[in-house]
Amino acid sequence: MIREMRAAIFDLDGVIVDTAKYHYLAWKRLAKEYGFDFTETDNERLKGVSRVRSLEILLEIGSLNLDESEKEKMAAQKNEWYIDYIRHMDASEILPGSAEYLKTIRTKGIKTALGSASKNAPLILERLGISDLFDVIVDGNKVGKAKPDPEVFLRAANELNIPAAHCVVFEDAEAGIQAALRANMGVVGIGKPALLSEADIVIGGLWQLMVLSGE
Ligand code: BG6
Ligand code: MG
Repeated sequence: MIREMRAAIFDLDGVIVDTAKYHYLAWKRLAKEYGFDFTETDNERLKGVSRVRSLEILLEIGSLNLDESEKEKMAAQKNEWYIDYIRHMDASEILPGSAEYLKTIRTKGIKTALGSASKNAPLILERLGISDLFDVIVDGNKVGKAKPDPEVFLRAANELNIPAAHCVVFEDAEAGIQAALRANMGVVGIGKPALLSEADIVIGGLWQLMVLSGE
């Protein structure tokens, strides 16, 4: 299907900024405390999904069955470590071409939104100084259902007042690509084609679109 892109909806972690490595480090540290290993391959399953769901997957990997209060403690601990990693971030950690691509499409009249599962999105955008590049911000504080549920993207389209058929989602996670497809939006995968085969097209990063546009 050929669609006119009237709105672009961006995932945050792994698309605009490389926070995926900090999520990974914090989860790995938590797994170690509980006596099991957590690999980069395991980490792929956590990308794009909410903190609570991520913890459930982590516990599944470690074959642990814990009560709710212990789980809450673990999620809080992980987030504390994660915030320690991200609080020192600055604009130098914006992934190549991301800010430029956002600025370019905005000059062409295309609306922009953030569609992220992260509750830390406001802090990250503030650290990077790019909050102004989004017309609408939908993050983990605003949605109840984790990707692959399409809620986050549908809400962004709704707030932008653009029909889903004219939205294109930029995503690095399998769960996010499924969410975009369920929302009936176009989807550009960012990362390795083998892992993101359901996307309409897969690129290595937003910098590639800047090269193609010749700007
Ligand atoms: C997503 C990440 O963007 O946000 C996931 O890809 C993460 O790895 C999720 O678990 C929730 O993030 P946070 O910052 O609310 O713990
Ligand atoms: Mg992501």
